[in-house]
Amino acid sequence: MSQPYDRVFNFSAGPCTLPVGVLEQARDEMLNCRGAGMSVMEMSHRSKAYESIIERAEADLRALLGIPEGYRVLFLQGGASLQFTMLPMAFLGEGRSADYVVTGSWGEKAVEAACLEGNVQTIFSGKATNYDRVPDLGGLSRSPGAEYLHFTSNETIQGVEFAGDPGGLGVPVVCDMSSDILSRPCDVSKYSLIYAGAQKNMGPAGVVVVIVADEMLGRQRPNRPPMLDYRLQAEHKSLYNTPPCYSIYICGLVFQWLLDLGGLEGMNRINREKADAIYAAIDGSGGYYKGHAQLGSRSIMNITFTLADPDLTDRFVSEAKTQGLDGLKGHRSVGGVRASIYNAFPLEGCQALAAFMREFAAKNG
Ligand SMILES: Cc1ncc(COP(=O)(O)O)c(C=O)c1O
Repeated sequence: MSQPYDRVFNFSAGPCTLPVGVLEQARDEMLNCRGAGMSVMEMSHRSKAYESIIERAEADLRALLGIPEGYRVLFLQGGASLQFTMLPMAFLGEGRSADYVVTGSWGEKAVEAACLEGNVQTIFSGKATNYDRVPDLGGLSRSPGAEYLHFTSNETIQGVEFAGDPGGLGVPVVCDMSSDILSRPCDVSKYSLIYAGAQKNMGPAGVVVVIVADEMLGRQRPNRPPMLDYRLQAEHKSLYNTPPCYSIYICGLVFQWLLDLGGLEGMNRINREKADAIYAAIDGSGGYYKGHAQLGSRSIMNITFTLADPDLTDRFVSEAKTQGLDGLKGHRSVGGVRASIYNAFPLEGCQALAAFMREFAAKNG
């Protein structure tokens, strides 16, 4: 199936496929962006031209997520990994504790970083079943006096995802939304801090978005190193130092693309249809393919499955590649196949994979 510019269906877990229209606009604006006489890469981050780019990106993100008053939007660097390090540095410390819900590899890493800063309780771990499920957050017993509860809405490696926002938990909720932000509507008021690396659903690597409640900022420990100080970053509107200007610009184009598409309700419908096409091929295979995630915990962004005969996995992945289905090899901790189908990944690619899965099973049954 031929794609514009001979592009492949790119199932990479991130960085990953971006909307073709966004890439075309970036190309068209490369040498002279909107009459500035230069590219965004060459612009001062203090110029009027750049100010309008970053302000528009923030306004569009606020519109998409319906971010209420009393929340700051920050565009920072260091990826989601620095966020799960900076967060405990800002809010933990001697005598302070936090609860962590660990549903996969990224949650594990977040705990490792937080343990260096304070008292961490892992109130749920899915490790015993190789992270194939998510719990009911409301049903977990929590430690008294926790500064916050941290969870990962979608575990990119294992392909397990919470079905929606947490209900009133009575504790500040912090969420790593790196791999499912903007894939569906989200009630930001349920969270005190959300962070997400850009390189799945928002844009290129190099920028991480933080959405943080003023109330949470007010509880930050004093005297943080400036670059790791959420309050300082908020006071400087993400311009304390030179931000990742070009990555933020591309995120802004992606936000406009999403708004033009009808926002997150529309995106969610498309994402569900995409995921359903592949899950149907797994479920209809009579056991030839086995989904890693339990029903009810299945991700609509990263679909993980194994073949009944694991020796056929490499052949599956390499034959798929010859048909323009690229980047399907699963992470070593789960094995098998992982199809990452973020917002910009087209429905036709999911249908093509489902057809390939059926053919492969028929040929190699
Ligand atoms: C859920 C999640 N959290 C954190 C990270 C780490 O992100 P980064 O590489 O931007 O530090 C990733 C990367 O894939 C991720 O998927």
